Amino acid sequence: MPGVRNEKHRAALTPGSQPLLCAPMPEIAYVNGEFRPLAEATINVEDRGFQFADAVYEVLRTYDGELFAVDEHLDRLDRSLAAIDLQTGLSRVQLTAVLQEIVRRGAFPETMVYMQISRGVAPRHRGPPAQATPTVVITVRPLPPAPAQVSDVGATVITVADERWARCDIKCVGLLANVMAYQAAKVAGADDAVFVDADGSVAESTAGNIFIVRQGQILTPPKGPRILSGVTRDKMLAAACGAGIVCREEPFSQAELLAADEVFLTSTTVQVVPVIRVNGQSIGSGKCGPVTERVYAEFYRRLPRRERVRA
Ligand code: PDD
Repeated sequence: MPGVRNEKHRAALTPGSQPLLCAPMPEIAYVNGEFRPLAEATINVEDRGFQFADAVYEVLRTYDGELFAVDEHLDRLDRSLAAIDLQTGLSRVQLTAVLQEIVRRGAFPETMVYMQISRGVAPRHRGPPAQATPTVVITVRPLPPAPAQVSDVGATVITVADERWARCDIKCVGLLANVMAYQAAKVAGADDAVFVDADGSVAESTAGNIFIVRQGQILTPPKGPRILSGVTRDKMLAAACGAGIVCREEPFSQAELLAADEVFLTSTTVQVVPVIRVNGQSIGSGKCGPVTERVYAEFYRRLPRRERVRA
């Protein structure tokens, strides 16, 4: 029952109830109210996340040791949960407390937090069980700090037909099409793949949103079921507008992608990655362009920093 689970989550956050086994204990997982060494963390084989990908997830990160854009991530999690009609019984305050606690226990300079919520354990049947308790799994990994300047090591991508399902706005763990597209990119000697819809419009990459620069203006595909609404995408658009760059959320084609002056990808884990080649064809100057640099500089300038908060 959600109530029972809530007790466990509360107990997990009670000071002293779960002593740090060894401090720091970076390889750590939170599973249904308990913090464990990652190697010992397990879930039931009848978990619906494992059986049906009946689960949604979020990836958050810290900047300067503090979780970034928690509300935006939890807003999106709420939208994903609502879209699959999954109630966790957990409040935002509880979830935020668990996220903060696992970051504290991980004790990395910068942390990536992976959080997955499935519909829980039930005998395998497509119909959602009436009584299952959601499974909450959270893990942490170290991340490099945000670089002061956008990396000049650009990525190469290939385009692939978008064979994903029709609700890419739900951050669902069913990512097989993304895995296959990424694998196709590797086989082709590229770093990543970009999905192109049946109508010819570009959607996003296997794990990030896509932007093109054309005559000094930025274009990115509009929000909707064909893309995941990236938290970094919104922050980057705000930074670009703040830097005085005109931004348009509108569709563009593969031909427009290839003809762009600059292309870049965004996500929580990598912030901005300039794309220097698409399908073997050089983009613009073949290296990170000036607009990408300006947008990232403004994004970086806006990042919360402890010294600034203290000042
Ligand atoms: N992926 N589009 C897709 C398909 C993604 O998987 C992601 C993020 C994004 C960018 O979203 P955000 O800016 O909120 O991270 C867009 C995460 C990082 C992942 O699956 O690991």
